[in-house]
Amino acid sequence: MVVAIDGPAGAGKSTVARAVARSLGYTYLDSGAMYRSVALATLEHGEPAAERARELDIELGMRVLANGRDVTEEIRTSRVAEAASKVATDPDVRKELVRKQQALMSKGDWVAEGRDIGTVVAPEAGLKVFLSASPEERAERRARELGIDPHQVLRDQTLRDEQDRAREHSPLRAAADAVEIDTTGRTIEDVVGQIGTLARERAGK
Ligand code: CDP
Repeated sequence: MVVAIDGPAGAGKSTVARAVARSLGYTYLDSGAMYRSVALATLEHGEPAAERARELDIELGMRVLANGRDVTEEIRTSRVAEAASKVATDPDVRKELVRKQQALMSKGDWVAEGRDIGTVVAPEAGLKVFLSASPEERAERRARELGIDPHQVLRDQTLRDEQDRAREHSPLRAAADAVEIDTTGRTIEDVVGQIGTLARERAGK
């Protein structure tokens, strides 16, 4: 089964998706790490981003490897996040990465997180969750994680959210059949528990 977790930056997707995958014994797929890896390659080697996406072999696991190079930390900077949101508007980049994601998920059980998992990558997912939280709380969480100024994070985040929601191809939105969960003021354990329960119900276990 596939559990799709979509939502805006800082909604807690990564932490929650990782924990849900662990509790269910499913494999975790961080689709954002793929867009970030393509963005880093484009910053380093130039456009066209679609060409960078095609030539990049991305391995996701404990570490993120792009053509064998460990980019785990480098792809987390705000510069790469902003560039990721830009390359993600390119339909050819999306086509390439969606193809890679679908190939990975064609076998086995997955918890996949991103912006378009429930709408485009895995429209048949057994459970779709759309995670959100207030913009201020999302920025605070991210600032704490990275040890940087929350006001700056909020500005960057607002820009990226707008870009992700307004783009023509696969904009960020909840699938019609997604369960919407607002995590504002809730603990990770609480949210993970709720999604785990929903997933077990859907999987019939
Ligand atoms: O961690 P955070 O939620 O801030 O970002 P991410 O999930 O790593 O994604 C980085 C950027 O990649 C997003 O701002 C999106 O523009 C893009 N993305 C996308 O378009 N589709 C996905 N399935 C995942 C990420």
